[in-house]
Amino acid sequence: MRIATPRRYLMCPPAHFRVTYSINPWMDPTKPVDPALAMFQWEDLRDRYRGLGHTVEILDPRAGLPDMVFAANGATVVDGRVLGARFANPERTAEAPAHLEWFRAHGFTDVREPEHVNEAEGDFAVTSAWILAGQGFRSSPLAHDEAQEYFGRPVISLELTDPRYYHLDTALAVLDDARDEIMYFPGAFTPASREVLERLFPDALLATAEDAAVLGLNAVSDGRNVLLPRAATGLHAPLRERGFEPVPVDLSELHKAGGSVKCCTMELRPATP
Ligand code: ARG
Repeated sequence: MRIATPRRYLMCPPAHFRVTYSINPWMDPTKPVDPALAMFQWEDLRDRYRGLGHTVEILDPRAGLPDMVFAANGATVVDGRVLGARFANPERTAEAPAHLEWFRAHGFTDVREPEHVNEAEGDFAVTSAWILAGQGFRSSPLAHDEAQEYFGRPVISLELTDPRYYHLDTALAVLDDARDEIMYFPGAFTPASREVLERLFPDALLATAEDAAVLGLNAVSDGRNVLLPRAATGLHAPLRERGFEPVPVDLSELHKAGGSVKCCTMELRPATP
């Protein structure tokens, strides 16, 4: 029997969401997006979190930052400590200070401005024992050391190889952060990183290429409910077998920028007493 634990999330409405540039293979600026539909889909995700008993804090969107809806990239919060982001692409640079401002205004006192490029929870996944950290496209391996020194948790570096899975959270999701259960798509990693994952998580749920290709790994779990992109139906049965409850969400408009459920959701992990 799986138990959900109440979470606190930070989300940013897609008020200025558009695809105006291309910094990953999903983004095609010539393809139209429907801003009203994007907002409707985002609100549905927010309301589902609230309906499950979670707290959703809201970050004000800023004009000229069309990717700001992907709040998971703005900072990493572990034990109430905030490691700010530093974006790899200039188009997103200004999102980082906007996040830091929010944290400073909301009572977070332990806030670090990063030295090295890190796209926050896009490349950092937190389990009870480790912080799994992606590199290869966005975050610098130097940021992995920086995170380890700042959070005092062992950081495991994993190398991504497929440009469609440019952030760790497009290829791997934490399902139970108390018992260190994850799901991932092996094809997104180098052979050595795959071996590392096999050693650390021998019982992991392995996703198919089909489920990965619809961003099925870009999921958020509260320990029981797993919110995931609607098209990732192949994950339902293996999730249920493990006692999780799949909750399909339609974020098709945001997929046009290469993001889905997890990208829209930053988790604010409190200090543990
Ligand atoms: N268009 C954004 C980018 O390429 C999408 C970010 C998705 N966020 C994530 N956590 N994977 O930076």
